[in-house]
Amino acid sequence: MVNIDWKNLGFSYIKTPYRYIARWKDGEWLDSEMTEDNTLHISEGSPALHYGQQCFEGLKAYRCKDNTINLFRIGDNAKRFQTSAQRLMMPLIPEEMFIDAVKQVVDCNEAYVPPYGTGATLYIRPLLIGVGDSIGVNPAPEYIFTVFCMPVGAYFKGGLKPTNFIVSDYDRAAPEGTGAVKVGGNYAASLLPGKEAKSRKFSDCIYLDPATHTKIEEVGAANFFGITKDNKFITPKSPSILPSITKYSLLELAKDRLGMEAIEGDVYLKDLDKFTEAGACGTAAVISPIGGIQLKDKFQVFYSETEVGPVTKRLYDELTGIQFGDIEGPEGWIMKLIVE
Ligand code: PLP
Ligand code: COI
Repeated sequence: MVNIDWKNLGFSYIKTPYRYIARWKDGEWLDSEMTEDNTLHISEGSPALHYGQQCFEGLKAYRCKDNTINLFRIGDNAKRFQTSAQRLMMPLIPEEMFIDAVKQVVDCNEAYVPPYGTGATLYIRPLLIGVGDSIGVNPAPEYIFTVFCMPVGAYFKGGLKPTNFIVSDYDRAAPEGTGAVKVGGNYAASLLPGKEAKSRKFSDCIYLDPATHTKIEEVGAANFFGITKDNKFITPKSPSILPSITKYSLLELAKDRLGMEAIEGDVYLKDLDKFTEAGACGTAAVISPIGGIQLKDKFQVFYSETEVGPVTKRLYDELTGIQFGDIEGPEGWIMKLIVE
C-alpha cells in the first residue's frame, strides 16, 4: 500500500504507475499494452483535438473489508462507451476488451486502491480518441483507447454534507444533440457555467431542459433526484441527459429495498416545493445531498442546508453498502477482483 492521506483525498489527478493503451488502424485494434508513460504522442491533425471526436467513461473500484476489490456495474459502462463511440462514428470497444483493460489497470495499480473504511475509491477513466493526420470534418483514420486510474475522495466538497446549487441560464446540450452520450464537448460547454456558479460559492450549476427551460435536467456532472412529500423517488427523464448508471441503480433500490414509488419523469421548476429532499447522483458524485437551489432571486431549501435527509441517507447507505461489499447487491451488479 502506498503512503497517501486516503481520508483527505479530493477529486484530483494523481499519476498512478500503469495505464492500458491500444491503437486502432485499418479496421482492427492492435498493440494493446500496459505502459508507465502517461503522455500521448499524436498528430497535430487529430480529429479529437479539432472536432471533439472523443468519448470517455468513469467507474470505480471499491476495496472491501476482506481486502478483495469490487467493480460496480462495469458491463453498463462498457455498453454506454459503445453508445458514445457510435454517436461520434468511432470504432466500438468490444465489452470483453473494455472489461479486460479495466481489470488489468486495477490489478497493476492495486496499491492505489484505497483501504476499506476510508471512503475513498479508485476512479477509473477509459478514454477513446480519434487521432492521425487529418483536417477535414471527417471521422479519424486512427484511434487510441486508453484506461487510467487514480484514488479519489468526494467530488462535491463535503461528501454527504449538503451543498447548494444554482440554476444556469446556459445549456450543456441541445435537445437532439449529444447530451445522452459521454463526449467531451458536453463538458467543454459546461466549463463557463460551472465556473460562474463556483465563483458565486455554489457547488455547481443545474441545467434545464434545453427546449423549454422549465424542467431540471442535470446537476453539473451528475443526475438529479428528489424525494417528494408523499415519499416518491423522482428523477428526470430526458433524451439530453446522460443515462446515469447510479440513477438507474437508485431507481431500483428505492423501489425494491426502500419500498418507494420510483419514477423517471418531468421535474418542473414550478414544482420544486413538492420535494422534501433532493440530491445529485453519479459515479464521481456518489450521492451528494442538495441543500438548496438558487433560481433567479428565489432560494429553495429542501431538507436542510446542513444535514442529509433520512431517505437520501438510506439510499446512500444501501448503494455504498453494495459497492463496498457489505450488502448483497442485485444480481450482476458486482464483479469481484481477487488481487493476489
Ligand atoms: N451526468 C453527467 C453529465 C455525468 O458526467 C455523469 C457522470 O458519469 C453522470 C450524470 C452520472 O452518471 P453515472 O452514474 O453513470 O456515473
Ligand atoms: C463520473 O461521475 O464518472 C463523471 O464522469 C464525472 C466527471 C466528469 C468528473
